[in-house]
Amino acid sequence: MIDTINVNYDTTIPNNVGLSEDRRILKALERWHPGYLDWWQDMGPEGFQESLVYLRTAVAVDPKGWAKFDYVRMPEYRWGILLAPAEEGRTVPFGEHFGEPVWQEVPGEYRAMLRRLLVIQGDTEPASVEQQRHLGKTAPSLYDMRNLFQVNVEEGRHLWAMVYLLQKYFGADGREEANELLNRRSGDVDKPRMLGAFNEATPDWLSFFMFTFFTDRDGKLQLEALAQSGFDPLSRTCRFMLTEEAHHMFVGESGVGRTIQRTCEAMNEAGLAYPHDIEKVRALGVIDLPTLQKKVNLHYTLSLDLFGSEISTNAANAFNAGLKGRFHETRIDDDHRLLDATYPVLKLVDGRPENVDVPALSALNMRLRNDYAVDTGKGVERWNKIIARTGVDFQIRLPHAAFHRHIGEFSTAHATPDGEIIAEAEWQARRDDWLPSSADADYIDSLMTPVSEPGRFANWIAPPKAGIDNRPGDFEYVKIDD
Ligand SMILES: [Fe+2]
Ligand SMILES: [Fe+2]
Repeated sequence: MIDTINVNYDTTIPNNVGLSEDRRILKALERWHPGYLDWWQDMGPEGFQESLVYLRTAVAVDPKGWAKFDYVRMPEYRWGILLAPAEEGRTVPFGEHFGEPVWQEVPGEYRAMLRRLLVIQGDTEPASVEQQRHLGKTAPSLYDMRNLFQVNVEEGRHLWAMVYLLQKYFGADGREEANELLNRRSGDVDKPRMLGAFNEATPDWLSFFMFTFFTDRDGKLQLEALAQSGFDPLSRTCRFMLTEEAHHMFVGESGVGRTIQRTCEAMNEAGLAYPHDIEKVRALGVIDLPTLQKKVNLHYTLSLDLFGSEISTNAANAFNAGLKGRFHETRIDDDHRLLDATYPVLKLVDGRPENVDVPALSALNMRLRNDYAVDTGKGVERWNKIIARTGVDFQIRLPHAAFHRHIGEFSTAHATPDGEIIAEAEWQARRDDWLPSSADADYIDSLMTPVSEPGRFANWIAPPKAGIDNRPGDFEYVKIDD
C-alpha cells in the first residue's frame, strides 16, 4: 500500500507516489537525474553550491506541517515527486465532461493538448532559476539569500513535478520533452525559454522581489487553473506546488514591502516629505518611490503578457476538454460549461480601450488575467498601507492593462499607464517617466553590495518582522564557506 501522505526518502528520489513499485518510471527518472544535476551545477545559484543553506524540505503533503528545516548543500537537496492526496470521488469540475469521474490516465484525444500544457508550465520552472543565478553574490542579507535559494530549489522541484508527469504518462515523447526542458536556456538566442518574461534578465534584488511578486503570481494563477484539471495526477501535482508557491509570493511581497518601508523611514529620518525629490531620496542610499512605481509598471505588464491573447481558442479547447479550468472553478456558481455565457473583454474600440462582451469560452485567458489583477491589487494595497503608516504621501498603482503590452489586443497600441492611447513618438518621448531607464537600473545596481554578516541588512531594505522557522534575527541562514 502506497503512503500518499508521508514522503518516502528510501529511494534516491523522495516521493509519495510509490516509485519503488513503479520500476519503469523510477528508471526513467534515474536516467534523467544526472542531466538535471549537471544543469543545476551549470545554471543554478552561482558561487554557493558548497554552502550550507537552511532550507525546508517536504516530509509530507499534509496541509499542516509538511516541511522540516535543516542545513543542506543545494546540489544535495532532495528534490522529490510530491502529489497532494487524492480526493475521494472527485469528478471533472468543468467542460464537456463535467460531472464524470476524473481520469487517472490521459484520454487519447487530449494527449497532445495536455503534453503542451505540461511543457509550457515545466519550462518556466528552470527558467527562473537561470534568471536568478547571479543574485547570491549581491544578497542584502543571509536571510534574503536563504529565501532566494529556497525559491530556487523549489522551482527545481517544480521541474521534477512536470517531468514526472511527462515521463509517466507520455512514454518516449515525454522523455524527449523532459530532456528538452534541460536544454533550453533563459535568454539564449538559439534555445530560449518558451515565454517572454522568462527570457528577461533579473539583474538585481529589487527585480527579483518584483519577479517573485508579479511573475511567480502568474505561475500561481496558472497552477490554480491546472489544479482544477480533470486529469487527476495533474490536479494533485499542482495542488502541492501551490503550497510551495505561497512562500514565493511571500518572498516577493515582503521583499518589496521591506524596500518601501526602508525608503519611507529614511525619508522621515532625513526630514524629506516630497517623494518625487529623487536626487535627495537617492542620496540616502534607498530606492525612491517613483522608481519603485516604474518597476511595478514593468514587471506587472510583462506578467500580464504571460496570460496570452485575451481571445484564445487554445484556452477554450483546454476548458472544453476538462484539462484547464478557471481560478476557483468549483466555487463559481454557473453551469461550468459556458456554452451560452459571455464575458467582457478589454479591446481597442475606435482608438480607446473598451469592454466588449464575447463568448465566455473564448475569453478564459482574459478572465484568468482579471483574477490575477485582483490578486495582485491586494498585495499592492498592503504595500500602500506600509507607506501610509509612515506618513509619506505616495501611492503605488497598477498601470492600465493597455500600457506596455507585447501580447494581445494592445500589443500594437501605445498607451499611458492610465490607459490613454497616444502616438508612438509621444510614448517614446515619455517612456523613461513610466518604465525604468538605464540610469534607474544603474542606480539600483549601485546599491547591490552584499551583506553577509548574520543579522545585518543592506541599507536599502528593512529587516523582516520575523525569521524563517522562528529563528532569531542574527541566525546564520547560509554558512557560506562550510
Ligand atoms: Fe514554480
Ligand atoms: Fe514559484
